[in-house]
Amino acid sequence: MAGEFVGLPGLGDALPGVPPLPGFGANAPAVPAAVSEVHDGVVAGSLDGVASSVDGAGELRVALRVAAAALNAAGVESPRADAELLAGHLLGQDRGRLAVTALMGAPVPEGYGELVAARAARIPLQHLTGGAPFRSLSLAVGPGVFVPRPETELVAQAAIDEAAAVLAARGAALVVDACTGTGAIAAAVASEVPGSVVHAIELHEAAHAYAARNLEGTGVRLHLGDALEALDELAGSVDVFVSNPPYVPVREHADPEVAVHDPDTALYGGGADGMDFPRALTLRAAVMLRPGGLFVMEHDETQEAAVLELFAATQGRAGDWAQASVLPDLTGRPRFVVARRA
Ligand SMILES: C[S@@+](CC[C@H](N)C(=O)[O-])C[C@H]1O[C@@H](n2cnc3c(N)ncnc32)[C@H](O)[C@@H]1O
Repeated sequence: MAGEFVGLPGLGDALPGVPPLPGFGANAPAVPAAVSEVHDGVVAGSLDGVASSVDGAGELRVALRVAAAALNAAGVESPRADAELLAGHLLGQDRGRLAVTALMGAPVPEGYGELVAARAARIPLQHLTGGAPFRSLSLAVGPGVFVPRPETELVAQAAIDEAAAVLAARGAALVVDACTGTGAIAAAVASEVPGSVVHAIELHEAAHAYAARNLEGTGVRLHLGDALEALDELAGSVDVFVSNPPYVPVREHADPEVAVHDPDTALYGGGADGMDFPRALTLRAAVMLRPGGLFVMEHDETQEAAVLELFAATQGRAGDWAQASVLPDLTGRPRFVVARRA
């Protein structure tokens, strides 16, 4: 889209019962070229125009609309929410409190335009706020580490449920989070199953540094190494082996937040179907788990059949697995497997 800002959603359209803001809607000012040239993460020009139109809005409530419109034009999936979260981040307020602050006529917070321009350039929201929510936790994230996703909270839940049951039944529970990234799953298990012993493994130094920060004081034992080889000393004794590994198949364009900012080493599982790493990790899980231990692994929604095949009696060392089921995420897509070691 080139030309004017006129008619961008959120700017001119009055909220129900609220008259249009003067200077917006039909009377909207010309859009800075920078805003109109941002599409799908491709920034054709400087984003200074975005920053100055947001900062020039005067009042926060107007700036929120300008910011949401700019983010919408940039292809951001949830423009209004992101506009609010960025302002809330600067002011140290949640979205509810921010709405009140905006209604009271607060000014645009210092640095808001710059943050919105960065988000319009499709830098992940979590890199700009520096934190990602995961279950009850807030984790440090940034360049070089995979941003934890809501669907992985269910993977963590399966590990937590099993660890709690094992702890209650046996008085101890040994959990390994392979491919820990920020440390999300390991931190969740440690905080929600006090008394469990949790190890976390991460191969890449940048991600490991974030895990070290997030896991400080949690009691989780963090290891820099290859999840396919590390912790030999625990072989045959692990109660829960959980992982959100690299599994993405080679495929079409992803959003720039993922394609540009999540490390490739966190995403792609190898092979056309993305199953090379999950296949190898399943063999490792069979080595690490005690008889009756549980393997929990996230996978792509296209991989259900290929994943279940890994647990067939003919795979790996025949007879490794007693049972395996693929479970859905919150939207009903098949997204993780739980398998019981024979
Ligand atoms: C999809 S990310 C998941 C991170 C985290 N578990 C989460 O759910 O947010 C996969 C992680 O595995 C790490 N990784 C890739 N290969 C690995 C290996 N061979 N051993 C250990 N970690 C590995 C990547 O660096 C990345 O941090």
